[in-house]
Amino acid sequence: MVDSERAAALACRSFLDLFSRKADAVVGLATGSSPTEVYRMLAAYSTLGALPDLSRISAFALDEYVGLPREHPESYHSVLTRQWTIPLGLRTEQLHVPLGNVRDANSGSDFEDELLRFGGVDIQLLGIGSNGHIAFNEPGGRLDSRTRVAQLSEQTRRDNARFFASLDEVPSHCVTQGLATILTARRILLLGFGRQKAPAIAAAFEGPVVPELPASILQLHPDVTVFVDEAAASALSRTTCDLSNKSSDVSLGR
Ligand code: GLP
Repeated sequence: MVDSERAAALACRSFLDLFSRKADAVVGLATGSSPTEVYRMLAAYSTLGALPDLSRISAFALDEYVGLPREHPESYHSVLTRQWTIPLGLRTEQLHVPLGNVRDANSGSDFEDELLRFGGVDIQLLGIGSNGHIAFNEPGGRLDSRTRVAQLSEQTRRDNARFFASLDEVPSHCVTQGLATILTARRILLLGFGRQKAPAIAAAFEGPVVPELPASILQLHPDVTVFVDEAAASALSRTTCDLSNKSSDVSLGR
């Protein structure tokens, strides 16, 4: 268990280690509130001139809303441009986001092909929805899903309404990496903070692997680290961690 600041520092350290040993590293980026501190810390390193040369790294987003123009401030392309591309001084083409302006049958497989062409993701950052979704893979979907257009649940639309002027403005559909796509990342770091995440965290990591809890699929991945604060860990029944320095993480499958 860690507070969100410490979690961000540990995740940030993993990114820095990756960047210094692999000039053409590929990272997977999540949106939402949970990873923003990681991006802010990396931006601070960038301002200090303390990052290695990032001119050959690439980043792939997990998902995008369907129906928002790319330049809409809440499209994930815009969000990651603000939080990642600009602060780190990267080129636009170093960020790959699924296209949300198309519903054509090939857009998902085109994105998968691109991901493959870049050699797959070295470190994938993930948040978790209050209903256990990862990326925009909602409860009840296939565990072997790939990048595709999908429908958002009403709960996710309500959760994400805080980024829009009203619930009506939250898109109903998205393009999202599938659960099987996410599992191809070589290493996964999941961040979950706050009491509203507690039931999903407990069900995902102590319950069975089921489509009703999409994040539970992560139990099948060999290298997942889950960073949770005390509130998000509060429903876990098998937590054993050292709280003395508040710096241990709950490690799974390592
Ligand atoms: C959105 C994103 C997810 C993210 C989730 C949780 O639905 N598509 O990738 O994990 O929100 O967001 P937050 O970190 O704000 O709780």
